Amino acid sequence: MKLLPSKIPQISIVSLFLVLAACSDSNNNNGDRSEATGLTDAARQAELAVGVAFDVNVNVSIERKTLASREFTSVTPENSMKWGSLAPTSDSFDFRNADQLVDFAIANGQRLRGHTLFWHRLNGLPPWLAEELNKASDPAARLQELMVNHTATVVGHYAGQLAQWDVINEPLALVGGGFDPDNTFHQLLGEEYLDFALLQAHAADPSAELFINETFIEFQPEKFDALIALAQRLLDRGAPLHGLGIQGHFFFRAPDKAILLDQLQRIAALGIKVEITELDIPLALFSGTPDPLAAQALAYADVFNACLAVSLCSGITLWGTDDAHTWLDGFSFTAATVPNRPLLFDEELQAKPAYDSVVNALIAIDR
Ligand code: G3I
Repeated sequence: MKLLPSKIPQISIVSLFLVLAACSDSNNNNGDRSEATGLTDAARQAELAVGVAFDVNVNVSIERKTLASREFTSVTPENSMKWGSLAPTSDSFDFRNADQLVDFAIANGQRLRGHTLFWHRLNGLPPWLAEELNKASDPAARLQELMVNHTATVVGHYAGQLAQWDVINEPLALVGGGFDPDNTFHQLLGEEYLDFALLQAHAADPSAELFINETFIEFQPEKFDALIALAQRLLDRGAPLHGLGIQGHFFFRAPDKAILLDQLQRIAALGIKVEITELDIPLALFSGTPDPLAAQALAYADVFNACLAVSLCSGITLWGTDDAHTWLDGFSFTAATVPNRPLLFDEELQAKPAYDSVVNALIAIDR
């Protein structure tokens, strides 16, 4: 049987929009700027990792590096640790870009989240994988062999240096409660590919906390229930699953604090950690309000306050340093609202009201 390369799912944008789009309740301004305390101090005081997705190998200015080191206590490689970035061929690895980032974070005393071992969408898979599976007499066995090699080599390479790994990214369909039909791993290995990946990663670095990271669950109760049920099955089978990531790309709808709090509590009730792993909140969501920047600031406070209310919520990562560097400006769904301005710092690397709002949320809490 010939296997087709896993493709970007052709689920209709319209159906995704229909499921997710709904009115967003918003928002008031919530307070004065704290001049005295920066984000890293506030994060440490609140015992919450506040991270940034970043890569140091792609035309990064000194100013942006300084911002990333000064303002965040955790770093996630935006792209440099994806399988396709690390493995130019099926039997070679190139760690140079990812190593640069790890060295940067360690030099700055920052925590590292590994992202991501196994992701079937976009360029999460290496370009050579489909051909490699097509020519194998037993594609499932070949995939397992490649997964073992990838995990042992990559997780082993960074053993003891990364606090967490997104071992599996986005296993479920974008919409609904099932597995993604275009998920190569699930197609060939069934649900047990998750157990397999987690066990391999745990063997390669027993000290790393292992996560499943999922997207578009914030406003899809059916999908969220499916994720909880999946995590429970994995835990029941003894898989080394230590946390779930809620990505937090809020481009359809502003965060709803009550929903988010409920989701964080339900994950914590499994006895594992939870993090908001890829947060961004575009300004266009608030274009109907008198002061969109203030409304965005309140939305950020809602997310931070929800996480701060749950002791097992251990971190929040912003998906980019600043508004000039956001994946949303290159994304078809959000093309109409470029510049999306979804982050804590503007294009000039100046702190926005959202920055102050987050700092205030962090310093107000006694965890
Ligand atoms: O590195 C090449 C470069 O050599 C080339 O010149 C350029 C031309 O467009 O493309 C560069 O690669 C791009 C890469 O970002 C680095 O900029 C890829 O085409 C592009 O697909 C890639 O997009 C990334 C996307 O994941 C796919 O991997 C985004 O930056 C990144 O923000 C995004 O992050 C994902 C998370 O990993 C998982 N959750 C969803 C999130 C948003 O899609």
